[in-house]
Amino acid sequence: MTGQSRAPGSAVAASLRLEDLAVDPYPHLAGLRSQGAAVWAPNLAMWVVAGYPDTVSVLRDPERFTNDSPKSLIQATFGRQMLSVEGEEQKRHKQACLAPFTGKASRDVWQPRVDRLCGELLEAAERAAAGGAVEVDLMADYAAPIALETMGIVVGLPSGDLPRVRAWYEVFARSLANFEGDAELHRAGQEAAAAMREYLAEKLDGQQPAGEADGGPLIEVLSGPGGTLTRSEVLANLLIVLFGGIETTESMIGNALHYLLSEPGLLEAVLDSRNQGKAAFLAAVEDVMEESLRYDPAVQTLTRHTTAAVRIGGAKIAAGETVQCMVGGANRDPAVFEDPGCFKPGRANVRKHLAFGLGNHFCLGAQLARAETRSALRTLLERWPGVEFDRASSLPPYGHEFRKPGRLVVRPHSTESRPKRIAVRRRSGLSELSQTASQSPDPSADGSSSSVG
Ligand code: HEM
Repeated sequence: MTGQSRAPGSAVAASLRLEDLAVDPYPHLAGLRSQGAAVWAPNLAMWVVAGYPDTVSVLRDPERFTNDSPKSLIQATFGRQMLSVEGEEQKRHKQACLAPFTGKASRDVWQPRVDRLCGELLEAAERAAAGGAVEVDLMADYAAPIALETMGIVVGLPSGDLPRVRAWYEVFARSLANFEGDAELHRAGQEAAAAMREYLAEKLDGQQPAGEADGGPLIEVLSGPGGTLTRSEVLANLLIVLFGGIETTESMIGNALHYLLSEPGLLEAVLDSRNQGKAAFLAAVEDVMEESLRYDPAVQTLTRHTTAAVRIGGAKIAAGETVQCMVGGANRDPAVFEDPGCFKPGRANVRKHLAFGLGNHFCLGAQLARAETRSALRTLLERWPGVEFDRASSLPPYGHEFRKPGRLVVRPHSTESRPKRIAVRRRSGLSELSQTASQSPDPSADGSSSSVG
């Protein structure tokens, strides 16, 4: 890189710190967006892109913005796997891992098992509550075990091994969020990945290759006949899948639960949607999940490396630089999302969000993560319709890389006794949620509006 290629940082970029992004990234990201399409952030030693159109352009241009770079921390930690290679090689890696993650497998094979798991976790929490612990932390006791156990089932690892997997995970996750380059953290991450690779190699050696055509566990699929990956590629892909599917999904579930429970009137509206039938309830849950992916995505950053001198807007960027696309910035770009700072379930273009990335590296586990989150929200509301959020004991979403609530404390209250009543206009889903707390809805206001209080 040459000094001239780095435009003088704007005031916003110059003062950008990870801690600020971790607490509330959105005002900082809006500031960056207003400074230019790409802004040099000296503290992070990278270019930052926080607008929607430029993020899309970067993600759709793997020839000039690549993941395949010696500077890639992910490649250095896990080796060559689908996320760190491009072109035909990337397709070969991804195709080999696809079967357990299709929409069909997620819906038909895994969803029923996740539904069961969610029910069992709430039952266990009820038993604990009956034993005197009346409050439940939905992060520790629900979101985290759903994500971890599901990955165990889908990858094909015994439940008893999962605490070990989680412990390795913690170490390399810290190392990968280490944008400031702490050497000790980096070394610990490499060691944890090596230990996990060794563990997975043993599992692979003991594996019976009996992959089902659609939706057998990944480790079976990868050890089946006719594989197109070498052994080290298989191990690297198992590592990236485990890395990709644990904290991300825990965070996605946690964020969706956080907004469901804390946005004024939302919980009541979703519960009330049951009065219009199961389909309306499922649609209301879906709307909350998708809007939460847009509003506060679990994965905040997508990193690319330039292969040539490029321009993004007015910024001249040399070859070999790091460009960080800020998903939270793109998802709150007013050029694409009206009123981006408002949590509005049911907005028409919500699926344009970039929470699962875009292009060749679009998240392998998106449908599975949706199945898990859907199941977590639904099961909670079906089982604990009187659930009550303890805001004072909870901690809101936090994190500059993965973003999740630290604690989500609720009281189960299995009886149904919601104090507020809410009107929902059916035509545009929950986005038209009109907060008429403690009033009766007016069913005559509009032909399409339905009283669901
Ligand atoms: C079942 C759970 C999940 C699994 C197994 C999983 C796995 C993966 C894998 C293997 C990739 C790399 C795909 C490729 O390079 O072709 C990926 C990409 C990605 N995942 Fe996931 N993921 C899961 C859940 C999530 C969740 C919950 C989020 C966020 C809400 C997320 C966000 C992303 C993003 C943004 C990318 C793109 C990365 C990039 O382009 O640099 N993932 N995921």
